[in-house]
Amino acid sequence: MTDHDGPARQERLFVALDPPDDLRRRLAASGARLAAAYDGRATPADKLHVTLAFLGPVPGERIPAITAALEAACRTHRPVMSAPTTTAGVPRAPRSRIVAAVLTDPDGRLAALADDIGRAMMPLVQGFHPPSPFWPHVTLARLRRPAVISPERTDTEHVFAFDRVTLYASRSASGGGAQYVPLSRIALTGSDRPH
Ligand code: 2AM
Repeated sequence: MTDHDGPARQERLFVALDPPDDLRRRLAASGARLAAAYDGRATPADKLHVTLAFLGPVPGERIPAITAALEAACRTHRPVMSAPTTTAGVPRAPRSRIVAAVLTDPDGRLAALADDIGRAMMPLVQGFHPPSPFWPHVTLARLRRPAVISPERTDTEHVFAFDRVTLYASRSASGGGAQYVPLSRIALTGSDRPH
């Protein structure tokens, strides 16, 4: 709120790790298959992401401070190596509404990145608490009706480099649903952080 202008414009914000394009294509194909199998809607390829921090509605005037803090939190991080291992339903039981790809975090650097970002956001975003434990995943499909999901193993031979964090605004799209608008992109270029 401001004293003179009425309620400040709110943006529904989240911070995400963007999958590299080759993984994005694979995940979109899995999402399309799972959506067909379980009667759901696949996440379009350009909207696939790993949520690192869901900030919720935030006054727009806070965005510059959030962006600066996010850049500082990411500065020492190098690209994160990860692979999808399984697909799983969320919630896991008895019936799920979402099917997600679960990601590996072999050296803990994905959790460390989420942790650093979470700590940087807490003083800036009222009511924000980082999820504990952090569960690295990509939502592949949202189901029309809750269903029992059989977990599937996925190909883990290939490990992918995730080298970009984005601050997104989730805005209502015409025709329903949400549009994810990138507000700032941060390349992970740190090189010497020990974990
Ligand atoms: P998820 O799909 O990775 O679970 C944008 O809305 C993204 O923010 C969603 O894709 C969802 O991530 C995450 N999100 C939405 N509402 C949330 C909430 N209440 N708590 C935590 N994450 C949420």
